[in-house]
Amino acid sequence: MTANEQVLQQLETVNFPTPPTIVVRLVQLLAKDNVTAEELGAAMALDAGMAARVLHLANSVALGGSTPVESIPEAVLRVGVDGVRDLVFALAMVGAMRPAHFDYRPFWRHSLAVAFTAQALQTRALNLTTPFPETYAAGLLHDLGMLVLDRALGERYREVLDAARTTSRPLVEVEHEMLGTDHASTGGRMLGIWRFPPLLVDAVANHHHPWVSGQTVTQLVHLADFICNHQGIHHGTGFFPQACERRVWDELGVDAEALPQIVAEVQTELSRAEAVLAAA
Ligand SMILES: [Fe+2]
Ligand SMILES: [Fe+2]
Repeated sequence: MTANEQVLQQLETVNFPTPPTIVVRLVQLLAKDNVTAEELGAAMALDAGMAARVLHLANSVALGGSTPVESIPEAVLRVGVDGVRDLVFALAMVGAMRPAHFDYRPFWRHSLAVAFTAQALQTRALNLTTPFPETYAAGLLHDLGMLVLDRALGERYREVLDAARTTSRPLVEVEHEMLGTDHASTGGRMLGIWRFPPLLVDAVANHHHPWVSGQTVTQLVHLADFICNHQGIHHGTGFFPQACERRVWDELGVDAEALPQIVAEVQTELSRAEAVLAAA
């Protein structure tokens, strides 16, 4: 058996945690056009501590506003049902999924920043008529495969991260060379096993090669990843940015002049990411 075949076998048998029940329910809700506050409340009831954590977050820097938020309906009024849904999604995922061989904080900070940036780009994509409710979740989960590889390969994956760092090369390239696979396809595969919607699977599996499927959410995540990495908000494992496809900007219809504004929003959003990290 070759070393790469061994890697694939380890990935087949990895004992990776299933997503929290609340996340599975939220993924189902993402497929709907309009989530109601009642549906969101029912999902939150699946996690005893969730409402308290959302309120805690609402009263830290996260949701802004001057008057304290004392109930979930008030939080919904402040940021909308979708805003609370995304917050719950983030809290549940960050709380449940932690790497063993690298620091979870920069990893999840990057993931949260990409989620927000993808959403910010979505509102500015002139060629996009209706927004995709899955965009935030796709951004949040885009590098999930790194957690899977970390869990499945342990020290061997740390060597891959070290090699990418010392050779200053894009991680996906080094992963392919040393493992015969990469975190994008591994993450997509895990989401497929979890029976997440094809749109989310595609965004995760192809975020480094968005032209493979040409799906809008995949393109949004690719561009958001590029912007965050160039802002220095990377996953903290010695990342070296990959180039961004010019045609992605063009296909989405994102005006490059909007970039400074997006970057400013991403920087502001980092305080929310820190608050999520602290509360998860
Ligand atoms: Fe990635
Ligand atoms: Fe990334």
